Amino acid sequence: MTLQAIIFDLDGVITDTAHFHYLAWKELADELGVPFDEAFNEQLKGVSRMDSLELILERGNLTMSAEDKERYAAQKNTHYVKLLENLTPTDILPGIAELLTDLKERGLRCALASVSKNAPTVLKALDLLDTFDFVVDAAILKNSKPDPEIFVRACSGLGISVNEAVGIEDAQAGIESINRAGIISVGIGSGLKHADMTLAGTSLLSLGLLDQLYQTIVSRETI
Ligand code: BG6
Ligand code: MG
Repeated sequence: MTLQAIIFDLDGVITDTAHFHYLAWKELADELGVPFDEAFNEQLKGVSRMDSLELILERGNLTMSAEDKERYAAQKNTHYVKLLENLTPTDILPGIAELLTDLKERGLRCALASVSKNAPTVLKALDLLDTFDFVVDAAILKNSKPDPEIFVRACSGLGISVNEAVGIEDAQAGIESINRAGIISVGIGSGLKHADMTLAGTSLLSLGLLDQLYQTIVSRETI
C-alpha cells in the first residue's frame, strides 16, 4: 500500500484563522458575560458555529431562544468575516505551500476537511482555491468533529479508501475525527492526545516525514 493523499484541516493548519475564531468568540462571550480564555477555546476548535455557541451558553449557564442563537451566531460570523478581510497568501503557515507543491509533484492528491462554512472564502484569500482536489462542503455535514464524517467524506471525494491517507489537524476534536475515520493522524501543536505523530508546528511538516509515518504504521499493521 502506498500513501495516496493528505487531508488537511484549515483553521490552524493551513493558516492561523483559528486565532480569528478565538477573537470573534471572545468578543461575543464577553458581551454575554461568559468567562472565555485560550484553554476553553481549545474545546471549540473543529466544532461547528452553532455547536460552539451552545458550548459557550452551557459554560455560562445561559438559555436562549433559537432566534437569539441564530442572531448571536450571525454576529460572531460577521466579526470573523471582517477579520478575514486582511488575509493574504502571505498568511499561509510555514511549510504548507512547500508540502502542497511536493505532494502534487509526487502525484499525490489533497483534500480539505474543514467544518467552516467560510472555508471557500479563506482558500480564495490565500489563493489556494484551485489547489485542493476535493473540498468537503461544510454545509452538508450532519456532524461536527470529533465525528469521523468529514474525513470519511474527504476520502470518498478523492476516490480513495481511508487507509490510503494521512490527516493533519490542530484540534483535539479533529484528531479524534481522523482516528475514528481509520486514517493516520498528525497533530500540530501541543497538548494533543492520541495522534499517531505530533509536531510542534507546520514548519516541521514534510512529505518525506508523512510518507515515513505512513509506511511505518502500514507495515506494522500488516505484520
Ligand atoms: C472550524 C474551527 O474549522 O470551523 C471552529 O476550528 C469554527 O473554530 C468552525 O467554529 C466553524 O466555522 P464557521 O466559519 O463556519 O463559523
Ligand atoms: Mg483547526
